[in-house]
Amino acid sequence: MRVAVLVSGGGTNLQALIDAKAAGKLPNAQLALVVASKPGVYALERAAKAGIETAVVRRKDYASADAFNDAMLQTLQSHGIEAVVLAGYLSMVGQNVVRAYPDRILNIHPSLIPSFCGAGYYGLRVHQAALKKGVKVTGATVHLVNEAYDDGRIVLQKAVYVEEGDTPETLQRRVMEQAEWEILPRALDLLTSGRL
Ligand code: GRF
Repeated sequence: MRVAVLVSGGGTNLQALIDAKAAGKLPNAQLALVVASKPGVYALERAAKAGIETAVVRRKDYASADAFNDAMLQTLQSHGIEAVVLAGYLSMVGQNVVRAYPDRILNIHPSLIPSFCGAGYYGLRVHQAALKKGVKVTGATVHLVNEAYDDGRIVLQKAVYVEEGDTPETLQRRVMEQAEWEILPRALDLLTSGRL
């Protein structure tokens, strides 16, 4: 199954997918395209090193959200994409994309949904909120993306302990290393092998 990975930053989740593919853990997935929300992000370098075609579809290059969403859908469809992974992607995918890929879009979120998710909860802010709340356990969630974004069907979750003295940065790193990078490739394998 031809898969596109949408990225916005460092691309460590993309790297986890690349490494899983190289290790033979994604037999039914072809990482066919990486689309970045802006140029110059390190995720694009990771893609190029792995020989994966890249594209940039940036909201501010378009006069309207509709034009941006149309460009995104056109980019995906012109590359024969069959499934999409949002890996550290900070824009919203348009409803046109969600409708074109029903139960075929995965998102990784750095908390145990339904905690600390929804508008405003992304990146470090998620971990700041978890520390502020004083939770003892957090983690990551891979879910399907539907019209309401963060509340699609949960596919996989993995818990991570909060440790004494954690900062948002140390907690984010642990959640990525111990949870995100494990469950995202596993979820993509479930999807591409028809087991979702
Ligand atoms: C990570 O916190 C991830 O949980 C979130 O985006 C951040 C960066 O991800 N989805 P990446 O390194 O760009 O994959």
